[in-house]
Amino acid sequence: MKIAIIGTGYVGLVSGTCFSEFGHEVVCLDKDEKKIEALRGGKIPIYEPGLEQMVKENVEDKRLSFTTDIKTAMEGAQAVFIAVGTPTSRRGDGYADLSYVYAVAKEIAPHIQNYTVVVDKSTVPVGTADEVRRIIKEENPQADFDVASNPEFLREGAAIADFMRPDRVVIGVQDEKAKEILRKIYKPLYLIETPIVFTDTRTAELIKYASNAFLAVKISYINDMANLCEATGADVVTLAKAMGLDNRIGKKFLHAGPGYGGSCFPKDTLALNKTAQEHGLSLRIVEAAVEINSAQKAKMVKKIRQALGGSEAGKTIAVLGLAFKPETDDMRDAAALAILPALVEKGARVIAHDPQAMEAAKPMLPEIEFATGPYEAVTDADAVVLMTEWNEYRALDLDRLGELMKQKIFIDLRNVYEPETVREKGFAYVGVGRGKVVSSK
Ligand code: UDX
Repeated sequence: MKIAIIGTGYVGLVSGTCFSEFGHEVVCLDKDEKKIEALRGGKIPIYEPGLEQMVKENVEDKRLSFTTDIKTAMEGAQAVFIAVGTPTSRRGDGYADLSYVYAVAKEIAPHIQNYTVVVDKSTVPVGTADEVRRIIKEENPQADFDVASNPEFLREGAAIADFMRPDRVVIGVQDEKAKEILRKIYKPLYLIETPIVFTDTRTAELIKYASNAFLAVKISYINDMANLCEATGADVVTLAKAMGLDNRIGKKFLHAGPGYGGSCFPKDTLALNKTAQEHGLSLRIVEAAVEINSAQKAKMVKKIRQALGGSEAGKTIAVLGLAFKPETDDMRDAAALAILPALVEKGARVIAHDPQAMEAAKPMLPEIEFATGPYEAVTDADAVVLMTEWNEYRALDLDRLGELMKQKIFIDLRNVYEPETVREKGFAYVGVGRGKVVSSK
């Protein structure tokens, strides 16, 4: 089957490539000529494990191609996936900016020749499919089409795996013909018995937000518990492990840390809260999760200050990891963006390293220095902060670290290390929720 993908960002590029891996003929369209040129030359603009190889193979097998021409993309396509960004609107009020989605709906309408399923893959508020339908009808009253909602559940750094072996596929669709086409598109997953949930478009749209917001709530919950552990002298890592053994709770997304970041949780929680408010409701749990999350980043600044004896002025702080999570170069809403400028503002010198994200981080963090590796970063540092749990930071040579540093203060914001292991090497160790911390003002 021929599929068109509109938008070659994290979602569009991964979805289009995986659909071609399924055996479909896929044309990915983007307005950005430079990006399309790069993709045609086999250069992938994002760091996503396994993507480069999969793109290369499917382009060679002529199942996957890239274009800036809407006609080429739409020609003969039985399904068109809208995978453009829905960022938090610049109005700063938390609404999702749907202008890109609506612009695509308007652009594709005149090119709908035969029956076509227009599929919202982007994360869009409840009711967007109805608006997309209205726009297309208005642009091309003769168009024979239906609109479906097919939200993605891809984690950055694991997007290929999440697409090829998802826990479930959610499809919101009214029309039987559209359902048939989407069944055919996802047939390879159907054959490995992946649950496919068919529902209406509004339920499908809300499932995405409800799922992401719940994951964000889990993270803010465990971060709140971590703060209570510091006040009471309990250990959040053991607490989370024991909680997770209850299969009604589940062990994932119970890692305390500096708070969630990324391109999804921050914007999706705000957009969901807005949707509720528009309907005269307030999602107090999700609202609390958002507040706890931003407070957590501020708490990390205090934690670092405290570990340095009460002031970071004149101190050198090495920071390991900048990306919002490991296995990605994505800096969107990364905890580092909230924490590092606050330290510099109070007079600290900050030197950071990240295996993938330094290029993306440089323009966003002009006031910090960058090192070529973790050991260079810690040289002459008063403290080292583990900000993002990249694998290469999980087995640091603590003896070497101790020799290179001016003071031996280890602040582990991802609880990667066992406190005693680090303390035995002569470090002052500080984690998140790892026993009593006397809180100073
Ligand atoms: C998320 C959802 O997981 C995915 O299903 C959805 O499609 C897109 O948003 P992503 O944002 O790529 O994926 O990353 P994820 O792995 O969910 O982590 C999000 C943030 O939460 C990261 O900053 C991570 O560091 C943080 N996190 C995650 C925690 O602080 N603790 C945890 O236990 C898990």
